Amino acid sequence: MLADEVSPGLAIVILAVLLAFRYLVYPTLLSPLAQIPNAHWSSPISRLWILGIRYTRRENRTLHALHRRLGPVIRVGPNELSIDGIDSVRTVYQGGFEKPDWYSVFDNYGYLNLVPCMFSTGPAAEHSARKRFISNIYSKSYIQSSQSASAQSREILYGRLLPQLQDSTSEMQAPHDTDMYSVFMATTMDFIAAYIFGLENGTNFLQDKAFSDHFLEHYKARSDFSFFDQELPQLAWFCREIGIPFWTVDAANKELGDWCMRLCDVTKKASTMNSPSAIESCDKPVVWNALVGGLAKEKKTSGSSSVLYPTALTNFDLSVASELFDHVLAGQETAGITLSYISWRLSQSIDLQADLRAELLSLAPNMRLDQDRPASMPDPKQLDALPLLHAVVMETLRLHAPIPGYQPRETPELPCQIGPYVVPGGVRIAASAYSLHRDEKVFPKPEVWDHTRWLTSAGDEEERKKRNRQFWAFSSGGRMCVGSNFAMHEMKLTIAAIYSNYTSHIVDDAGMAEQSDGYTGRPAYERLFLRFERVV
Ligand code: HEM
Ligand SMILES: *[C@@H]1O[C@H](CO)[C@@H](O)[C@H](O)[C@H]1NC(C)=O
Ligand SMILES: *[C@@H]1O[C@H](CO)[C@@H](O)[C@H](O)[C@H]1NC(C)=O
Ligand SMILES: *[C@@H]1O[C@H](CO)[C@@H](O)[C@H](O)[C@H]1NC(C)=O
Repeated sequence: MLADEVSPGLAIVILAVLLAFRYLVYPTLLSPLAQIPNAHWSSPISRLWILGIRYTRRENRTLHALHRRLGPVIRVGPNELSIDGIDSVRTVYQGGFEKPDWYSVFDNYGYLNLVPCMFSTGPAAEHSARKRFISNIYSKSYIQSSQSASAQSREILYGRLLPQLQDSTSEMQAPHDTDMYSVFMATTMDFIAAYIFGLENGTNFLQDKAFSDHFLEHYKARSDFSFFDQELPQLAWFCREIGIPFWTVDAANKELGDWCMRLCDVTKKASTMNSPSAIESCDKPVVWNALVGGLAKEKKTSGSSSVLYPTALTNFDLSVASELFDHVLAGQETAGITLSYISWRLSQSIDLQADLRAELLSLAPNMRLDQDRPASMPDPKQLDALPLLHAVVMETLRLHAPIPGYQPRETPELPCQIGPYVVPGGVRIAASAYSLHRDEKVFPKPEVWDHTRWLTSAGDEEERKKRNRQFWAFSSGGRMCVGSNFAMHEMKLTIAAIYSNYTSHIVDDAGMAEQSDGYTGRPAYERLFLRFERVV
């Protein structure tokens, strides 16, 4: 027998040689990825370097600087690439490159049995089956003509938000009373929850600050600790198995998940009570209706042959809750961060506020408050077409993208061409809005906030096209943000409502200039104190 002839010493040597070949020689010299510039000398053999960068939250600036030095494709780990040029971005995000397991932290209800949502779904077929139900109600034309959305916005802006700003102008208030970061987080939550569940069964975070703050705290715990689940899932699993608690994440997830489940239950009860509200009132649960209606139809027509059968159709209520929970979370924070940065940038220039107000008052009807007439809602198409408002929002999304971080995908089974390199299947590959939005060839002086770059008068047709192509705040391709039209609409409305009647001034903006590094980028201290003054 072989084992009798080979001495233990020799066996160890052979094993060492094999291991050295597999883990040192092959990845550094022979792997197809060996052609690609390394982010760090150790990148071909170990993930340690990139995990360290990620854990200490230095990824955006580190990789951006490396791309400028080494080119648009770099190797950050043995099996992981970072890309920066818009052409490779198109290749990767236009289709065929699916989301890896990294996104499974966005599966919800882990304590019940992980339930995927559209955002976390990997396989393309399953993803498009889910997307079919809801893409219509999130389309621009649907949102712009929805009377329910309009009625909801009216109540949230005129019934809740503006009265708060009005109170804040009173002499009684201390300058540190109006933290606009938390006000905007509450506003965006109320917007998305109303669209999903209807106004009455949605949230009222604007008028329930205590619960709103409590929610944000839990949400923060959930996202602060996702590193281990995303980057080292085996370790996280092992820790949980042997009883090392991930209690902050797990408890926060449970509380938030239960909360969303209650919203779903209430909506379900109301819908069986009043027969699916076809009436275009503010209480119509637009998203809930579309999703539940779509899933029910799928169950009836395709049943167990549906791609959604094993995940969504067998556990109907849970899968509805998981999907809607994701929209609530994805919709609140991103738009809340952006509104905070827009109002911060506007507060730095009274002149810009005056120009913007002039443009807003040109709307007919406009959002000016008058003692002797009820407040009106503007025509959504007119609002969307205002050039200065659009430029201010776009520039803020460019420089302060709320998701500045890496959006990983996986190369498909057959080798593919990325720039000059041929890359095999199963490699993690990612681009970031942070880097794409700082390409000086497209955005000269990229660190400067300058809304005029987005005015139609800026540059020729070719440059305009280049700018729009490079804009990546909502990602691109089939997995692009499904809520982008909803977000643009609610943000433009909110800014229009505020700046038609108020000017804002900075009281305390500590931390705003430091947007945290990570998948989502929040202002460092998550607060922004502004003072509002009525325009007369
Ligand atoms: C300023 C606001 C927003 C920004 C900047 C933003 C950004 C993004 C980005 C970058 C992605 C792709 C992420 C990735 O692939 O890793 C995404 C996906 C997504 N977003 Fe948004 N988002 C915003 C608002 C919203 C809103 C209001 C909703 C409400 C429904 C929403 C729901 C989603 C969903 C469901 C996906 C997954 C889409 C899919 O996989 O098909 N987002 N968003
Ligand atoms: C949910 O909304 C409906 C109106 O659409 C209302 O009749 C019902 O009382 C609400 N349920 C709760 C618990 O607020
Ligand atoms: C609202 O602002 C307009 C100017 O934009 C001003 O004429 C009007 O008096 C203001 N109304 C209130 C109630 O502050
Ligand atoms: C990128 O990271 C640096 C350093 O951590 C930070 O100052 C900057 O605000 C971050 N920007 C974004 C958009 O994440």
